[in-house]
Amino acid sequence: MATRTIVKMPGDGIGKIVLEEAVRVLEAAGFRADYVEGDIGWEFWCREGNPLPERTLELIGKHKIGLFGAITSKPKDEALEELDPALRDKGLVYSSPIVGLRQHFNLDICVRPCHTYPGNPLNFIRRGPTGEPEEPVVDVVIFRQNTEGLYGGVEWSNPPDQVYEALKTHPKFVKNFGHVPREELSVSTRIFSKKATYRILDAAFAYARENGYRSVTLCEKPNVIRETSGMMYKLAREIRQNKYPDIELWNTNIDAQMMWLTKNPEDYGVIVAGNMFGDIVSDAFAGLIGGLGFACSAQFSADGVGVFEPTHGSAPKYAGYEVSIVNPVAMIEAACMMLDFIGEKETAGRIRKAIAEVILEGKVRTYDMMKLPGAPSVIEHGAATTRQMTDAIIEKLNSA
Ligand code: NAI
Ligand code: MG
Repeated sequence: MATRTIVKMPGDGIGKIVLEEAVRVLEAAGFRADYVEGDIGWEFWCREGNPLPERTLELIGKHKIGLFGAITSKPKDEALEELDPALRDKGLVYSSPIVGLRQHFNLDICVRPCHTYPGNPLNFIRRGPTGEPEEPVVDVVIFRQNTEGLYGGVEWSNPPDQVYEALKTHPKFVKNFGHVPREELSVSTRIFSKKATYRILDAAFAYARENGYRSVTLCEKPNVIRETSGMMYKLAREIRQNKYPDIELWNTNIDAQMMWLTKNPEDYGVIVAGNMFGDIVSDAFAGLIGGLGFACSAQFSADGVGVFEPTHGSAPKYAGYEVSIVNPVAMIEAACMMLDFIGEKETAGRIRKAIAEVILEGKVRTYDMMKLPGAPSVIEHGAATTRQMTDAIIEKLNSA
């Protein structure tokens, strides 16, 4: 079998740490691949004026699989201050390499699983009807449209003439904003295309069927945001009727969903939403299963590019520790999503089982799982280091 080449993009801070741990687990699980390193992140902005160099895009374009750690991002002005002085008057403007990656490869489908690991002390607990504690099992996979909507970047403050004139053709604009001075207006658009909306909905339904989920929940707000959410809901009903009559379609509003999150999270399976609401609902569900140390994410394009990453950032505060204390599980989970993508489901399954065993056993826990404030001293208080957590997972793999 030809070996695959995976583009490793460690990025910044703890991204560099957790990515290496994930690779160790992949190797221990017997997964063989060649790795090439893709430059991305703050370092490359400061040095070259580009946090996502062309050579990295070429590598991903060629090999199609990216395993990404995390990057550091800063506001435009701060970014300029840290840029190499020799590059400072070249008119370079910092923009997020993550958004850049999404746009360049049109990674329009984002998948974020949130599954409870039994025994995780960070699992959400609520009270039942007679006051007894209940720990609902969350088994949710969120499909987030990743390129359009409120994150599409079509926005203005003090909108230019043509935009302003166009807005004035809408009676609601005249009624609600006609009296506001133009320079006091900021406009961010929420544009949905039918094609991209179809793709995310279809991906959600297909996943539900393939993985035995009985429902897909569309989480938008079609009663108020009638054009974009409305189009998505209409399309969801059509797709379900034509292709997936065996899967139920549920329709919840994003605000109500946030409330139901803590009432009955166990009732949901596959959830699908536009960009902003997908971002919100995925963070919310991640909170129920342990938060940033456990949340991972995959992004796919129509032509077969996949990028896999933990949801957390570079946590610069923890990056410089002599002995790292951060939780590697989110990154290892991301590597499992990569394995699923390339058809190595059995290997992914073994790694997930090993993670589950370590968590259930509860002997080896990183500081976040012990609810300790992050500090080097957590090790003295019994917290596992990043490496020890990974080693425990590898040990379970080896003894399986
Ligand atoms: P962050 O996710 O880096 O860290 C927030 C806090 O979460 C940390 O201080 C730590 O307490 C906890 N945490 C994060 N990862 C953890 C792990 N693996 N194990 C245990 N605890 C963990 O977010 P923050 O501090 O808002 O941003 C730091 C930098 O990361 C910023 O420059 C930001 O722009 C960037 N960022 C990058 C992302 C990415 O690369 N995908 C996503 C989010 C933020
Ligand atoms: Mg987010």
